[in-house]
Amino acid sequence: MLHDRYGNAVFTHSQAALDRFNAALELVRLYRGDPIAALDEALGEDPGFVNAWAVRAGVLAQQTDKAYCEEVERSVRAGAAAGRGAERECALLAAALDFSEGRLHDGVARCTRIAQAHPRDVFAVQSAHLGCFFTGRQSDLRDGPLQALRAFRRGDDGYGALLGMAAFGFEECGDYARAEAYGSEAVEIDGRDGWAVHAVAHVHEMRGDLDRGVPWLRDSADAWAPESGFAYHNWWHLALLHLDGGEPAAALRLYDEKVRPAQSDVVMEWIDAAALLWRLHLDGIDLADRWARLADAMSRAAGDGYYAFNDLHCVMAFIGAGRPAEVAQTLDAMRNLASTGEGDNAAMTRAIGLPLAEAFAAFDAGRYRDCVEAIAAVRGIAQRFGGSHAQRDILNLTALHAAIRGGMKETAEAFAAERVAHKPASPWAKRLSGEVAAMRGTRIAA
Ligand SMILES: [Fe+2]
Repeated sequence: MLHDRYGNAVFTHSQAALDRFNAALELVRLYRGDPIAALDEALGEDPGFVNAWAVRAGVLAQQTDKAYCEEVERSVRAGAAAGRGAERECALLAAALDFSEGRLHDGVARCTRIAQAHPRDVFAVQSAHLGCFFTGRQSDLRDGPLQALRAFRRGDDGYGALLGMAAFGFEECGDYARAEAYGSEAVEIDGRDGWAVHAVAHVHEMRGDLDRGVPWLRDSADAWAPESGFAYHNWWHLALLHLDGGEPAAALRLYDEKVRPAQSDVVMEWIDAAALLWRLHLDGIDLADRWARLADAMSRAAGDGYYAFNDLHCVMAFIGAGRPAEVAQTLDAMRNLASTGEGDNAAMTRAIGLPLAEAFAAFDAGRYRDCVEAIAAVRGIAQRFGGSHAQRDILNLTALHAAIRGGMKETAEAFAAERVAHKPASPWAKRLSGEVAAMRGTRIAA
């Protein structure tokens, strides 16, 4: 029996198919190149290669895009029809279907069981990791890769990828020292590992450490950016650091050149684009037709019932583009799902996504008190609809701006003080704090 690059048994007799599968596994763990093309090459060599079908289904299911559901289902059907595979392969196929059909928590549980039984299945560990990210399981983000590391030694293929995942988990759990140590080691092993670079970037973001964060991303980009399918997100992080540095023009330049240089159809890129434009919008920056172009792209997925985190960002784009009818349509779809829908996304929409989308609409309507109260009610549990602390910081920023605009002095003072405490070196945080202090006629200590 042949084995993949991590030592897991695979159901093919074709060495050529296995070579292409192994190449795809590396692309998947590095978020680079076109792993689907590599998997299709493997399947071209052996159409019954169930492991390739399972990874293909899983990668497509992880895109949080309803448009891929049919292709996920086709891959799962083809994998099952191959009549090969053991419990691990069947479970991977079932997990892909779980994610694609909205059983997010079931998908996480299934991938976690596979990873515990087969800790050298880096793809299963990564699938569980991403599922935990989409469902806000912060401690599991950390502990899944830590569990799998028991089966690896330094120098093993895949070891660095596990360090990078663990680093991100440590960061989301607030253990910045270990996040930085694990992430830095992973980057030393492979500078192309954009996920590990990203984990350390999160540490700098959370600390508002511009002096280390900007060079960390900027000076290593030649390694992680080329051929990366994830580069836009690391550039987004660099843009956030520039915002913290009080340099919105630099952030906007990164938007144009790196985050969204073209009219892409990648859902997760839209999310970052909307989140960056919204931050600039809060600061009153002229965004010309960027909102309109983004809203044009996002309209195909708005309120499609697939993922509340995406819907909230669609609402931002429609507000930014000045399209109240599409804001209303998306809110109606979310309300309908929240009141009558079943499944994980209906629950996420009901508890988190809809209250937040309504809060952002209230902000746009000048109902600032409603906005602040809705965000304040939800932000402490908002991880349940996914994303990172850095992504969900948009809630804190919006609440703070609403409190300032709404003349809610004590609330604004509290949010501003919180921000300065987290990011004492951030000129942006200090400037906002200054605006709040001016409301009261006194300065808040930084
Ligand atoms: Fe991130």
